[in-house]
Amino acid sequence: MPVQIIVGAQWGDEGKGKVVDMLSERADIVARYQGGANAGHTVCIGDKQYILHLIPSGMFHENITCVIGNGVVIDPVALMSEIAQLRQAGVSVTGRLLVSHNAHLIMPYHKLLDTVREQTSDRIGTTGRGIGPAYIDKAMRSGIRIVDLLDRDELARKLTANINEKNQILTKVYGESKLDIEAIIAEYQDFDKQIDEYITDTSVYLNAALGEGKRIIAEGAQGALLDVDHGTYPFVTSSNPTSGGACTGLGIPPTAINDIVGVVKAYSTRVGNGPFPTELKDATGERLRTIGHEFGATTGRPRRCGWFDAVALKYSAMVNGITRIAVTKLDVLDEFDEIKVCVAYEAPGKRLRSFPTDAKTLESVRPVYETLPGWRSDIAGATSHDDLPPNARAYVEALGRITGTKVWLVSVGPRRDQTITLS
Ligand code: GDP
Ligand code: IMO
Ligand code: MG
Repeated sequence: MPVQIIVGAQWGDEGKGKVVDMLSERADIVARYQGGANAGHTVCIGDKQYILHLIPSGMFHENITCVIGNGVVIDPVALMSEIAQLRQAGVSVTGRLLVSHNAHLIMPYHKLLDTVREQTSDRIGTTGRGIGPAYIDKAMRSGIRIVDLLDRDELARKLTANINEKNQILTKVYGESKLDIEAIIAEYQDFDKQIDEYITDTSVYLNAALGEGKRIIAEGAQGALLDVDHGTYPFVTSSNPTSGGACTGLGIPPTAINDIVGVVKAYSTRVGNGPFPTELKDATGERLRTIGHEFGATTGRPRRCGWFDAVALKYSAMVNGITRIAVTKLDVLDEFDEIKVCVAYEAPGKRLRSFPTDAKTLESVRPVYETLPGWRSDIAGATSHDDLPPNARAYVEALGRITGTKVWLVSVGPRRDQTITLS
């Protein structure tokens, strides 16, 4: 493997953190390519649980170098606090974390604009981390980048121009009060010494590493159905979590990629608003939420829960070019008598077998289910395919068959050792 992409194949929170941590054992570099601190990636080591927002999930393997690529939007306050937390937990960071000089910064006005916009227009249910407004500035070509933190005068000049403009919007459009330019400049000028040691041209670093035959994991955040181009627009995030985003978000060529692993939860969840055809707003959905501890790792919001959606997954496999899937949280289904898989959608007057990304159409479809028998036993201790009860094996096989993908890994618990590799 030169580059293996780990991509969320649904609406996020599929267990990417666990899978990346586990696969890091066989890699040299783990690189995040998009999103920001809206992500919450959980890694469980023994009885300890860590939630990472910006730092790649390979950090718990001493031999791994972690890279935050140019496609990520970085809140320096969040980054420094995450570094401090890792240090406190005894994780060595120095020399092991590289941050792209070209990554864009999230500033206080981005977070404020994210929040006020959510209060005054159609709600997307964002994480409030300033993600959308920061990517707007990047596309507008007025954004401030990590490298700007190293030049105090340039930073002050760019912040002044940006805040003057944002203050107009905040006061005149949203009726908010003005932000204090001097206070923000003073606060952010202070990051130069703290962040300097991590900053580099990560694209050059990664391409040199590829030349040396190093193994790179590209870690996606969010999920394909939250992709700004291919997801359920407008109920999406503002970046490209799909595999294509790894090339632009890291500055590596498509020819370097040889494996695209889709992380797939054995059922479905979604946080925030937007269409969700298999959502269960009943006691079964509540049961999935309780057993699966389905509460956001970043905001703590209850996740919406429902059955596995094979129509959505087939679409996701297509746009990502998924070569194999890792099925997570199979153990959450242990106690169910019957488990359903959505195999088609019923739209007014027709049956759809392909996924419509148009939110209005998707909102109107009714899922058509295939029902499979549950296994009614505890699989958290299973270490091989043979350890799984026949109905659990049949469920996993059905997911592969119905979605047309190859199942590679099956996860039966949050820890590294609770993972089964299929051939
Ligand atoms: P990510 O954003 O894709 O990294 O996923 P999150 O960390 O937001 O959510 C996944 C949650 O499920 C975390 O709490 C993980 O510890 C947990 N988890 C991952 N794999 C499994 C599994 O196979 N079984 C169970 N029960 N929990 C898991
Ligand atoms: P990980 O990496 C699940 C959702 C938000 C909202 C929409 C837009 O842990 O899988 P944003 O703040 O990005 O502008 O919000 O995207 N969202 C996520 N949902 N997991 C995530 O990350 C998410 N990051 C953003 O809930 O619906
Ligand atoms: Mg998450």
